[in-house]
Order: sequence, then C-alpha cells, then structure tokens
Amino acid sequence: MTLTEPDPGTGTAPDRRTDPVDTDPDRQGDPVGADPILRFEDVRLHFAGVRAIDGVSFTVGRHELFAIIGPNGSGKTSIFNVLSGVYRPQTGRVVFDGADLVGRRPHVIAALGMARTFQNVELFANLTVLDNLLLGRHHHLGYGTLAALGWLGRARRAEIANRAAVEEIVDFLELERWRRMPVGLLPYGVQKRVELGRALAMEPKLLLLDEPVAGMNLEETEDMARFILDIRDELDIPIVLVEHDMGLVMDLADRVLVVDFGQVVATGNPAEIPHHPDVVRAYLGEVRPR
Ligand SMILES: Nc1ncnc2c1ncn2[C@@H]1O[C@H](COP(=O)(O)OP(=O)(O)OP(=O)(O)O)[C@@H](O)[C@H]1O
Ligand SMILES: [Mg+2]
Repeated sequence: MTLTEPDPGTGTAPDRRTDPVDTDPDRQGDPVGADPILRFEDVRLHFAGVRAIDGVSFTVGRHELFAIIGPNGSGKTSIFNVLSGVYRPQTGRVVFDGADLVGRRPHVIAALGMARTFQNVELFANLTVLDNLLLGRHHHLGYGTLAALGWLGRARRAEIANRAAVEEIVDFLELERWRRMPVGLLPYGVQKRVELGRALAMEPKLLLLDEPVAGMNLEETEDMARFILDIRDELDIPIVLVEHDMGLVMDLADRVLVVDFGQVVATGNPAEIPHHPDVVRAYLGEVRPR
C-alpha cells in the first residue's frame, strides 16, 4: 500500500527512528526483522452477523512499539481478545514467539508471556497495590500447595523473590506512596498504572495495552507515556498499544495499524499515517458497506 508523503509543514510528532540518540540497530531500517515476536495472519472473528475482525494481518517486531488505532467499534479490543485467547477466531493464525495460539486458553497464553491491560481497569479494589502486583506473579510462584501451606524452604525463597520483583515494579512505576493502600481508594490514573504494574509483574515477552490513558488528565497521560517508553526502551519489552489519544500514538509508536469495520485501512509510520486518504476517510466517518 502506498502512502502519501507527509506535509512537512504540518508534521505531528518527531519520528523517533530518525532521532540521532536512538542508535539501537534493531530500530534502524526494518522494524519487524526476520523473527517477529507476533504474527497475526488473516484473522476473522464474526459474531452472528458482526464482523468484528474481518481478515486482519500484521506482524510486530521484537523491539517494537506497535499501535492499533481506529474508530469506536472497529475491532481493536477484539484483536486483543483473540491474542489473549478470550475469543477463538473462525479462521486465521496467531503465532507468538514461535507458538501457535489459536485454541489455547487465556492462562496458557499468559504463561507463554503475553500480558495485557484492559480498557476498563480490572483490579481487586479491596486489595493493596502490593497484593494486586503479587497476583500478577501467580505463575511465578514456583511451589506447590503443600509447600506453600508448610511455608517450607522453596516456598519461602519463591515468596521472597516475588516480593523483591514486585518492589522493583513499585520503584519503576513510582508507586511507593500508594503501595499499602487499597487500589479502590486511588485516583483513576494511579489505578491504570497499577494495572500496568500487574502486567509487568508477569515478566511478559509482549505487552498489550488497551487504551492506557483513556480518562486520564494531561499530567497522568504524560506520566503514562513516559512509563510506556521506559518499558520499551529500558526493559526492552515490545508493546502493542490500542489508543484513541492520537498525540500519544504519534509520539510513541514505531508503526501504526489503522483498522475500520474489522479491516485494515493502512499500516505505516506515525508521520505517514495521518495523511493517508483512507485513514482520513475512516476518521471523518464515511460509511462503508459491510
Ligand atoms: N462478544 C461480542 N458479541 C457480539 N459482538 C461483539 C462482541 N465483542 C465485540 N463485538 C462487536 O465487534 C465490533 C468490534 O468491537 P471492539 O470492542 O473490538 O471495538 P473497538 O475498536 O475496541 O472499539 P472501542 O474503540 O469503542 O473500544 C463491535 O461492533 C462490537 O459491538
Ligand atoms: Mg475497545
């Protein structure tokens, strides 16, 4: 698909890959490489007449921050639900780090290293920040129930390691002042950050973020943007980001996939995408036949 040249006078955010301080060879040239972390191939997911995903394909590189945008109801969350095993697509393949995902259950996919946050915060409101983060590590427990009951050597060591891992996340996401507070009492922006922390606690190979700044004020959005970039750059975890905040997407993403009516409208870099005529059309709300 050919993309129109961006208008130099109306450029949005700077293209990070041309930033002279970004010297990582993996981010120069081809962002996907020969061995992508994720292949989503010709996937179809239909619900009785609704084509939520209608033949979508894309790949995500091992160091990429890949954004998916599109109008309301265009299929973005459905793509995440297929990736994480909530829905099984009628056709298509999903290959994650070499493993075929279609037909696998959500907890199996999570254990393979795919972590997600949700469009609406899904945390245990009565539990503290620390306990919510510890829950993210349940598949890193490393001991059986009997050992856990007896508080024996291996269980104790695993518990100490899990607590240390969680404290690192608290540090990384600057959650110190809230660590012992019930999540339900925290400002919304902090709750979204805790949810991100819980996903990080799983030590994922790929992170799926569904509208991480929805409902946030400017300051909370800027904080979240900084954490997302740090996750990609310092922790080197690839990210698939679904977001309506165009400024954020254009600032952060290496590549952008645009979907509408469950189909791919365009794929390109953030400088190109806003000028693509089909993207403009999708956002201006032209009705297309289904
Ligand atoms: N479980 C379901 N049963 C029936 N239809 C569904 C189901 N889940 C999603 N859909 C439909 O699939 C389409 C895509 O929904 P999806 O939630 O993926 O959109 P989205 O791009 O995430 O939208 P938004 O930006 O509003 O979050 C919509 O028409 C939606 O109503
Ligand atoms: Mg959605």
